[in-house]
Amino acid sequence: MNVDIGNALASVASPGVSRESLERLNDQVGDAHERIEQGMADAEHGYEALNLPQRTDPSEIREAVEPVADAETLLTIGIGGSALGAATITDALAAESDTEAIYLDNVDPVWISQHLENRSLENTAINVVSRSGTTAETLANFLVVRDAFESADVDWTERTIVTTGESGPLRNLSDRHDLPSLRVPDGVPGRFSALSAVGLVAAAVCGHDLEALLDGAAAEAETLSGSLFECPAYAYGATTYALDQRGAGINAMVPYAESLETYAEWFAQLWAESLGKDDLGQTPVRALGVTDQHSQLQLYRAGPRDKLVTFVSPGDLADRPIPDTGVDELAYLSDATLADLLEAEFEATEASLAAAGRPNVRVELDGVDEYELGGLLYGMEAACVLAGELYAVNTFEQPAVEWAKKATRGLLGGGDFEEADAVAEKTELR
Ligand code: PA5
Repeated sequence: MNVDIGNALASVASPGVSRESLERLNDQVGDAHERIEQGMADAEHGYEALNLPQRTDPSEIREAVEPVADAETLLTIGIGGSALGAATITDALAAESDTEAIYLDNVDPVWISQHLENRSLENTAINVVSRSGTTAETLANFLVVRDAFESADVDWTERTIVTTGESGPLRNLSDRHDLPSLRVPDGVPGRFSALSAVGLVAAAVCGHDLEALLDGAAAEAETLSGSLFECPAYAYGATTYALDQRGAGINAMVPYAESLETYAEWFAQLWAESLGKDDLGQTPVRALGVTDQHSQLQLYRAGPRDKLVTFVSPGDLADRPIPDTGVDELAYLSDATLADLLEAEFEATEASLAAAGRPNVRVELDGVDEYELGGLLYGMEAACVLAGELYAVNTFEQPAVEWAKKATRGLLGGGDFEEADAVAEKTELR
């Protein structure tokens, strides 16, 4: 990926960051890079995720999915980091696959039932993913889906792949039924696991090129260096950090391709769960070009000066002409294609923010394919790790998320957790 921070500089934007400030910040980036490199070399928790392009074995994943490679539908059951990386990849590349990839993360009973009713389960495969193997939503949805298979007289044990940690309830269940299973690598937190089996099983079932995904990530890894001026990922991480320090506490991620909408969701999780600590962190917002030009753009251009807008330019997309009608007022459209229109809207929106002095950063892809996606996922993870070093937060923990998980289990009688007692006390007060 390429990153252009020109519209975030103080000479054109407010809040903005001056070139001199970035040069000063670059000393901290150098120190942070040393820390990151050391963490990677020591396979330390979290930093190990940046080693995945070298560590992940695509053939092991392809072998594990072999029994369900014919699936017409893949139900991935997982939540947060155990679903969003996979969904980013398969949604971005959906046009290239004959397998429909569906993600069951929420436990809304109406929504789950809608996904199970009127579905031919013989041609459906199940991909259950949970690092801890204890997440209530994932276990519950798996039990519900399993039951639907049994009711339809389809042997779910022949249609299920499990990806989980070394031990835990999901690992035990997988062993009991002798299911094909893969390990979530040690030292890789959920939201940083897209380039492991966690993200790549679904991609493999959908027939995507795992090697190209990992090659794209490896190429991005090659760019990591001690200078934000030489490394696109660090340029993004350092600029967003600097802008947040100057008042841009909100970061709107706006990809200009429908297929990248899930990527914005993945980014929002990565940014929020990794950096939202110790009263620090930038609030990520998910948006989509061109759709949100007709809604949120008003706020971004004329609302409070507390935002950075990150545009993702997808590069060339498979194009479609706009038909000629012979009507004069519509001639400007038929002289163009849909991709031309999308590009014009991108340029116009970016320029409109720049003209209003609103900071924005452009992330450029060279098309939406496996290689570019691998680079984008890796680049944003590296940006986030760098930003975490600059904020001096623990990027790789998520105590608030864990608190709620324990409270939920405790409330349902799934363990003795003080978090559940706190919820019960609050409820009594109402
Ligand atoms: O990034 C994270 O750590 C979380 O979003 C987890 O991925 C999410 O809570 C699911 O956890 P698990 O994979 O243990 O089911």
